[in-house]
Amino acid sequence: MLSPSAALPTMRVLSLRGIGVTRDGHPALDGVNAQVQAGQLLLVVGPNGSGKSTLLSVAAGLLPADSGVVEMGPHTRIALLPQSTALAPHLPLTVTDVVAMGTWARLGAWRPSRRADRDAVTEAIAAVELTDLARRPIGTLSGGQRQRALLAQVLVQRADLVLLDEPMSGLDARSRAIIAASVTRLTDAGTAVIAVTHDASEFTSIDDVLELHDGRVRN
Ligand SMILES: Nc1ncnc2c1ncn2[C@@H]1O[C@H](COP(=O)(O)OP(=O)(O)O)[C@@H](O)[C@H]1O
Ligand SMILES: [Mg+2]
Repeated sequence: MLSPSAALPTMRVLSLRGIGVTRDGHPALDGVNAQVQAGQLLLVVGPNGSGKSTLLSVAAGLLPADSGVVEMGPHTRIALLPQSTALAPHLPLTVTDVVAMGTWARLGAWRPSRRADRDAVTEAIAAVELTDLARRPIGTLSGGQRQRALLAQVLVQRADLVLLDEPMSGLDARSRAIIAASVTRLTDAGTAVIAVTHDASEFTSIDDVLELHDGRVRN
């Protein structure tokens, strides 16, 4: 019997073709092809400086490619968890405030009611197991708890494509497990996920792995 997901037509969320990016006069990406479909997890691995974060920046639309084609549906919603986010420790923001910022991205026709926003924030905080800390200032959290709050900010955006840059690096085992479970829930719900990692064993149900070396895909 077919599983429910196998019965659905595959839907390509993002396709990168022949992407080239020059940074500081050096090729950071060179002829990179990659694609991810709805409900799939694509891991991006490779040594430091190989272009992993650059690839996510291009996918997020934050950095224009110098060559190649980025194909994405016109209404694709993207959420990015940047690499080791510099978050001012003394900002007077609670966990709830930080997660609620994720709802700001949902504009125009997508804009749900404020009540729905609040419920979504509560749900995302619960998903990363921070309910007890929801009113705590973000600066008082441990690194793992803070990263989970930032992931909740991503979850609340209900994006079609989620980009995670080394989401578990340097975190405690519990936070890593919670983040891995969140990724699985995202893909189970049909979200496409691209995650940069140094340790593929952190993730379950990986659909594809892209290995970068000096800005090129190693086959
Ligand atoms: N903001 C930036 N400005 C200029 N060059 C950068 C910038 N960020 C990264 N680079 C360069 O781009 C290349 C790829 O970097 P990056 O994508 O951050 O690699 P990775 O994430 O795999 O460690 C490196 O040579 C790096 O020095
Ligand atoms: Mg990086």
